[in-house]
Amino acid sequence: MATPFEIIGEDGFTKLVRAFYAQVPTDDILGPMYPADDLAGAEERLRLFLLFRFGGPETYVEKRGHPRLRLRHAPFPLDVRAAERWLSLMHRALKETGLPEPVDAELRKFFRDTAYFLINTGQAPTEPLVTLVFIDADSGTEVGEATVRKAALAGGFEPGTKFGLSGQPFVLVRTEPIQGSDSERVRMYVLRQ
Ligand code: HEM
Repeated sequence: MATPFEIIGEDGFTKLVRAFYAQVPTDDILGPMYPADDLAGAEERLRLFLLFRFGGPETYVEKRGHPRLRLRHAPFPLDVRAAERWLSLMHRALKETGLPEPVDAELRKFFRDTAYFLINTGQAPTEPLVTLVFIDADSGTEVGEATVRKAALAGGFEPGTKFGLSGQPFVLVRTEPIQGSDSERVRMYVLRQ
């Protein structure tokens, strides 16, 4: 399978990281954490790291050594709010950059997992949750919403699965991830039985 680097090239990562850092200085949570006099340096460190991590040249490791991201983030008070804000800026950057879907999805997952792994302050993060938005496959209208533990969905969603929703029997037709939201959301197209 092609790596993200093979698909979007150095240029894709450069644009993404630029769109992310363009938002940093004015952000009330992240702005103060980043070195105001070396934002260009910070931008380059993240850019080289992503190139290395997603199949491109290993310049990051040559310059900085092993990433040790938790250790390198230890000086910053990184709580759930900071992680969610970082993700929010990155999601906006992804949207602006418009990378092809498989790469967009892979990067989103990596960013979310890494941001939560880096949390070092405040309450332990709660278990990852997924919001399911149920939509009537015939009419396209929303028929309900439920937030469930991600772990409960480990088996995935099989079309044809029958389940109850507000006391009514439904069958699942297909699912579709909702892009661009901060938390994980999935559209569930269903038909009343
Ligand atoms: C969760 C919220 C996060 C916050 C608040 C945060 C904050 C920071 C700050 C303040 C720096 C120092 C800037 C500099 O390089 O001078 C930094 C560096 C860095 N961050 Fe994050 N970060 C977060 C998440 C992430 C994630 C998810 C990744 C992975 C893609 C990441 C990758 C990096 C890398 C590669 C560096 C440069 C490390 C080095 O070589 O020194 N960060 N981060």
